Amino acid sequence: MSFSKLCVRDADVEGQRVLVRVDFNVPLKDGEVTDDTRIRAALPTINHLLERDAKVILASHLGRPKGEVVESLSMKPVAGRLAQLLGREVKLSPEVVGTEASALAEALEPGELLLLENTRFEPGETANDPELGLAFARLADVFVNDAFGTAHRAHASNVGVAADLPAYAGELLEKEVTNLSAVADDPARPLVVVLGGAKVSDKIGVIDRFLEVADQVLIGGAMCFPFYRARGASTGNSLVEEEGIPLAAEAIEKAAAGDCELCLPVDLVLGREFSADTELMNADGTEVPDGWMGLDIGPASAANYAERIAAAGTVLWNGPMGAFELG
Ligand code: 3PG
Repeated sequence: MSFSKLCVRDADVEGQRVLVRVDFNVPLKDGEVTDDTRIRAALPTINHLLERDAKVILASHLGRPKGEVVESLSMKPVAGRLAQLLGREVKLSPEVVGTEASALAEALEPGELLLLENTRFEPGETANDPELGLAFARLADVFVNDAFGTAHRAHASNVGVAADLPAYAGELLEKEVTNLSAVADDPARPLVVVLGGAKVSDKIGVIDRFLEVADQVLIGGAMCFPFYRARGASTGNSLVEEEGIPLAAEAIEKAAAGDCELCLPVDLVLGREFSADTELMNADGTEVPDGWMGLDIGPASAANYAERIAAAGTVLWNGPMGAFELG
């Protein structure tokens, strides 16, 4: 299926200041980026712009600093990793918008890169404050949205700014939307959707949609705990997104009434706490006793899911099955 929106390849960017919203919300440990997948995923758009002598201004959030400057969530390590990957200098603006950010954007030469500070240091970002949207727009001539991982948020740096500048989709956004459309519209069957991670309320739209089109939806990660709670099981100290519980109950009902099989893990790996060196035990069932938390799906569930995935015509994977970041 072809992409129906204007894409960065349609934009005339030579010598233009191009503000690119990327999703550099990457994991950090001791001030280092521990997984740069998201930074690498933005390289096609960044390279496209640099090759065409654009002046590139990058903006991203990192974590949830809630409108305040939080030193440990500075974009500094991200700028360093990006500079390594590109083999060229990445200037870091000490602020998101304002006089200094404007001066740095203004001073950019074609083929140069500037990374703004964490967009969520600004209180107006998550509220999609139009003033902040305009402040972003004033930094540039063209806007490119390549933040697929943030596309479900209406914030000033992705939605607000697009009202005030000519706006285009980036390469990553285009690729993801094209692939997802193909999967949803005409998948090779069986279509198996693997859903993990923690944020059920964010993904409920995805679950709902895929319960309509998929043959099997396999749930794992912290996503399974609201489902267990909806079925009356205890979850001990596991990470449970409370507002996800009624949504999980609705998904269970919807699956029971439809043709899609909704699978939950049948066993778990439990830990005493959320740390790499915690005491671990395998739990045969899905009850989590007090003093323990679920950190991964268990071996029987993993084998069951692996079998289903091996027999699939199409697999769509969204989110990890366990606390991989502790591995
Ligand atoms: C993500 O990691 O899911 C995206 O970057 C969005 O982050 P958020 O859930 O903090 O808005």
